[in-house]
Amino acid sequence: MNLRILLASSELFPYSKTGGLADMVAALAKSLARSGQRVGVVTPLYAGLPRKFPEIQRANLHLALPLGPETVTAEVWSTSPAERLTVYFIDQPAFYQRACLYVENGVEYADNAERFVFLSKCVARLAQELPWQPQILHVHDWHVALSALFVRSERDRAGQGSHAPATCLTIHNVAFQGSYPAQKYALTNLPWDYFTPDGAEFYGRLNALKAGICHADFVTTVSPRYAREITTETFGCGLDAVLRARQAKLVGILNGVDYDEWDPERDACLPQRFSSADLTGKAANKAALQKELGLPVVASTPLFGTISRLTDQKGMDIELAALEEMLPAGFQFVLLGSGASDFEQAYQVLARRYPRQVAARTGYDHPLAHRIEGGCDFYLMPSKFEPCGLNQMYSLRYGTIPVVRATGGLDDSVVDIVEDRGRANGIKFQEFSAGALAKAIRKALVLYAEPGLLDWYRRNAMAVDCSWGRSTERYAAVYRRLAGR
Ligand code: ADP
Ligand code: GLC
Repeated sequence: MNLRILLASSELFPYSKTGGLADMVAALAKSLARSGQRVGVVTPLYAGLPRKFPEIQRANLHLALPLGPETVTAEVWSTSPAERLTVYFIDQPAFYQRACLYVENGVEYADNAERFVFLSKCVARLAQELPWQPQILHVHDWHVALSALFVRSERDRAGQGSHAPATCLTIHNVAFQGSYPAQKYALTNLPWDYFTPDGAEFYGRLNALKAGICHADFVTTVSPRYAREITTETFGCGLDAVLRARQAKLVGILNGVDYDEWDPERDACLPQRFSSADLTGKAANKAALQKELGLPVVASTPLFGTISRLTDQKGMDIELAALEEMLPAGFQFVLLGSGASDFEQAYQVLARRYPRQVAARTGYDHPLAHRIEGGCDFYLMPSKFEPCGLNQMYSLRYGTIPVVRATGGLDDSVVDIVEDRGRANGIKFQEFSAGALAKAIRKALVLYAEPGLLDWYRRNAMAVDCSWGRSTERYAAVYRRLAGR
């Protein structure tokens, strides 16, 4: 059965991206369309997009929606990057044409509630008005989670006569909930009946993610382990009880990798392409990366890398402390990251203190991210929690051995030698501490000193299939169940 699915996300690669959300939604959309489904994606028209992507054109579709006491208008633009796939861009210049997506100079935009309640309304409206009549509306993260509530209220209003689609919400990170003072609920223009403890209200505030969890017909998250974790107090960020109560409609589906974008055999960003059959290109990429970073070009010195948002989630504090402890052992390390300025500065200071061992690049640099994956020997990802994580899966493909903390999707996607000798492809540690990470780095150095073993790990890593096929099938199974209700 072919399905008609409308996805919605506040970011979408290659048009906008601050993290893995953009990659995941783009790859899922593409993979669903390839498997024969009719797919649309709704996302904002951020600054500069029509100039950068001239194929994005006006779609002759206009929206005028209430937002509290006002009526806000938007124009829809669209493009069709693949067969059966259309991307719809919401053009509301005052809301979306800004320097950044959510946060500028470390400060959240003051009208994020307005911006994303409006986006959620546009999504719900398109879900009901697009001529190809989506059967499923699949929304991602808090920014568009309220769409599920808007669809629910439409169903309640229209009763049996409703053409509203079934809804699915994917939680990419329960730490971000879209929590605002209660008076912002007025932006929804819905009756206050939905502002209850089993709906949009959470401890007296509007909580967009919770509204989505309560009102979507189904909820998924991005790895099986994270699906279990978020039902516990430690990982649930306050929503664990809400999620426990809805466990029957919650599953974890591991993200895949879009190998059109992340494959060392085809990667146009790499100085040299390579495959597991011939790793000479990887050695050349390492030398080029060391040179680019101003580090001594020495093949025998192990090179570690991290590419990340610089936040507490990613374990930057324990990484800094573990590097401090372990750098005297003589390896090199490169960071590419942006985020909290104290972390940015701490890495810059480390690079100044160890100029022959540490390079820190702050800012966002997509091609450099590829070159780091291509050139490093090890990839460090010591996250405190990690819903899925993509870089460890990119690393596997690039033969860059992941060193990860066993949490969320990191635990689900990396195999340590103590779990399975035959399939070992990375190093895992359990405790969230600098000491445990330092020990894992020490293990990596031992591995590096055993070329035969390192080669075995690399081949295992590069052979892992993280493509979207299986996960797409799991999402399609969810959609089919919802469509058949
Ligand atoms: P999260 O979404 O929590 O940030 P993921 O591992 O799922 O973590 O995805 C992060 C994505 O963002 C990866 O594609 C990674 O390469 C990319 N990324 C993160 N920081 C940067 C940066 N400073 N420059 C380029 N790419 C980055
Ligand atoms: C979130 C999570 C990350 C996940 C990504 C894509 O940003 O922090 O772990 O990989 O979403 O699902």
